[in-house]
Amino acid sequence: MNIEMKALVVLDDRVDRSLVETLLTSGPQLDVADYVELAGPESGRVGGGDVVIVACANFNASVSEYIAAARRHHPGRPVVLISTTALNGQVAQAMGAGADDILTLPPRADLAMVQEMSKDVAFSVEKALARKRGVQAPSGQKLGRMICVLGLKGGSGKTLTAANLAVSLANAGHSVAIVDLDLQFGDIGLTLGMSPERTVYDLVRSGGSIDTGKLSDFLAVHPSGVRALLAPARPDQAGVVTPDFLKDVYPLLREMHDFVVVDTPPSFTPEVIGAVDASSEACMVSMLDSPSLKNTKLGLETLALMEYPGRVRLVLNRADSNVGISEDDVVSIVGRPPDVLVPSERNIVRSVNQGEPITLLQRRSDAARAFQALAELYVGDGRDTGDESGRRRRLLRRGR
Ligand SMILES: Nc1ncnc2c1ncn2[C@@H]1O[C@H](COP(=O)(O)OP(=O)(O)O)[C@@H](O)[C@H]1O
Ligand SMILES: [Mg+2]
Repeated sequence: MNIEMKALVVLDDRVDRSLVETLLTSGPQLDVADYVELAGPESGRVGGGDVVIVACANFNASVSEYIAAARRHHPGRPVVLISTTALNGQVAQAMGAGADDILTLPPRADLAMVQEMSKDVAFSVEKALARKRGVQAPSGQKLGRMICVLGLKGGSGKTLTAANLAVSLANAGHSVAIVDLDLQFGDIGLTLGMSPERTVYDLVRSGGSIDTGKLSDFLAVHPSGVRALLAPARPDQAGVVTPDFLKDVYPLLREMHDFVVVDTPPSFTPEVIGAVDASSEACMVSMLDSPSLKNTKLGLETLALMEYPGRVRLVLNRADSNVGISEDDVVSIVGRPPDVLVPSERNIVRSVNQGEPITLLQRRSDAARAFQALAELYVGDGRDTGDESGRRRRLLRRGR
């Protein structure tokens, strides 16, 4: 064990303290900085220790609130939850509250079993610490860029744009991940012709802490090289995917890829706000009709209110000249000119139905060229800010 592991141990009032002590002291040395009572005054604010181990007899609301408070007061300090009974269906809730890893004692654990499990505790703490340190201070390695594709109207072309932007970036030699944040009705899988064998729902359900290796197992790989974290297969599964959970996933994806493209549902849900906060850039998608343009203006104003620091590119979809709205009208409604115009094309509908992005199906079509131009704009923006790390990282990876 080569990293220091000083733990603050927090006990609820029903857990067997001697059992917890056996668990923490029988195996590879964990240095216990202090034991404190979960219900004690201001226990959530206690500093000290690189990691908090919360030991409880049952996972309940007060344990959940404690974990959330501990994470609020010390966001960089991981929390490992040990329960002496099984968490029956509450794993996602515990992870949602902020637990980095969860260990449960087997029923009727005897002394030998508890002693044996102390290795697991040390391993869990080591993993949680390594991950936190890795994410908070990536060893000199820059995080990839994260582009949030937004649009406040359904059917405006967000999914089309996200999928084709991701594929165009991959075609230009970048490593790319796409995240389907339309958790209830996501169709990135359909648009890219990928079946949802493993989705973000399965990632949440897998429990335990997440690292880049584990995350890779839950990404579906598209022939273009784009790796997708797909939306749950059924709408009722969306509830377990919390903004807090996703917040930990983004830095890992950015560590692994040059670009992370996020497709979103048509409103500023908590997940979308979380993704915007975590992103480096945004892409607003609008259609050439007045309700869509009005919503786009509202969306841009919302980003301004959030003091969004990244660059926002504007895509105007179905931007055909014969709908009675000129580019000047767009500027006067939205307040700025679009960066890219995507025409209406019958082949787009065909490409969506076939699950093959237009940028692959008909590379030379005007729509495909528009998405390629959008990708080039983003690549160029990186040059402006001196971020050419992407390609270099990829070359280094290839050379290994
Ligand atoms: N430029 C376009 N030309 C033709 N059809 C389009 C175009 N943009 C979008 N569509 C059609 O509209 C549908 C909805 O687009 P989508 O990207 O799913 O919207 P959103 O994600 O914003 O709800 C697509 O499946 C496609 O059939
Ligand atoms: Mg969509």
